[in-house]
Amino acid sequence: MRLFVTGASGFLGGYFLRDLIRDPSSEIYGLIRTRNGNTLEDRARSLGLLHPRIHFFPGDLTDQSAIDAVDAGPIDEFWHLASLTEFTEDRRSDLVRSNVLGTKNALQLAKRLGARKFFHISTAYVSGVYDDGPVPEDGVLPSPEFRNPYEETKHEAEKLVHESGLPYIIIRPSTVIGHSQTGEVDSDKMMYGLIKAYHTADRLRRRPNRKSKDADGPQMLFMNADPGVSLNAICVDDVIRAMQAIRERGELSKTYHCTHYQPVIIGRLHDEVMRCLDIKNLTMTLDRPATHPKTGLQAVLDRASRVYEEYITAHDPVFGRNNIDKLLKPSEQPRPLSKEVLARCITWYAKNRLRARQPAAEAV
Ligand SMILES: NC(=O)c1ccc[n+]([C@@H]2O[C@H](COP(=O)([O-])OP(=O)(O)OC[C@H]3O[C@@H](n4cnc5c(N)ncnc54)[C@H](OP(=O)(O)O)[C@@H]3O)[C@@H](O)[C@H]2O)c1
Repeated sequence: MRLFVTGASGFLGGYFLRDLIRDPSSEIYGLIRTRNGNTLEDRARSLGLLHPRIHFFPGDLTDQSAIDAVDAGPIDEFWHLASLTEFTEDRRSDLVRSNVLGTKNALQLAKRLGARKFFHISTAYVSGVYDDGPVPEDGVLPSPEFRNPYEETKHEAEKLVHESGLPYIIIRPSTVIGHSQTGEVDSDKMMYGLIKAYHTADRLRRRPNRKSKDADGPQMLFMNADPGVSLNAICVDDVIRAMQAIRERGELSKTYHCTHYQPVIIGRLHDEVMRCLDIKNLTMTLDRPATHPKTGLQAVLDRASRVYEEYITAHDPVFGRNNIDKLLKPSEQPRPLSKEVLARCITWYAKNRLRARQPAAEAV
């Protein structure tokens, strides 16, 4: 089986490749960017992807000459995971380049390589704001009210896939979090962006030389979110297992929501972050008291969490699961997101990517 993968250097791509390579019949090709004058081999090594059956070509998906230089021969499956995940308006033109032009070029490359199937990794959030019942899996969703240019460009990319004439399958994960067994993650976005916001504000608040000392304990902080709303989160190993099931038994021209059947309540997530990071006096609410002083610390927390505000102040849409439920065996369904799994994910991230102090967090 010969596969071509874009985005192999990313969070999901890395996990996926390490899973694919376990099949001794797989020969994997991919396009990755080199960095800081490093060689392709350096980058592959640093990603833990140096392997005799993995062959990388260097370059950016938006660079036509890099695409033209790919010489990989006939391919059975093309997996397009590369994408830019930024949410702010000032990144719109980069998002259009990577997510729209990048998908156009990936489709063109897949055609040239004679790919028999094109698997496109989209996002469940192409639904934008959607309160019209469960979001359908198949077909192009009508242009919704997007929350940010990421959603918009991923929606645009899906349209290109539908119009490409290639045999395709679209996969839409929701919010991907760490490995359910280890907590390991390679992401600083969404849930992790929020954890980082909590951590940054609390670390500054604890600094011994902070000017405004509070007589009655640490200054109260507020996270602007509705603790009752739900967020659809799914562990990376659950996503990879579903991707492999879709690889084996997915139907062409269909879309599969790689989502959790039971979303997490944001207030639960807040409690777990507070416990695992040993944070006190930080309340999640949409009703911050009018008397609360606009301190610099509060501004730090507001700034760091603002980019995610639309995801934590309103419920996630309900993502339809007709196709995915028909496809997955019971043993392939996502595992319950228990308190232990959430704590593992939060703690791993804090310890390894934030180098946070170690509270009494590991024992749940
Ligand atoms: N993680 C989630 O929560 C989540 C949720 C839903 C959907 N998804 C989708 O899943 C896919 C993978 O996401 P991820 O979390 O693994 O993302 P990630 O960790 O940010 O990785 C993105 C990958 O895309 C590559 N890339 C971006 N722009 C590129 C370009 N112009 N040319 C070549 N490569 C480019 C990056 O290369 P560099 O390493 O060189 O930057 C990296 O390999 C994406 O399509 C994303 O939209 C992710």
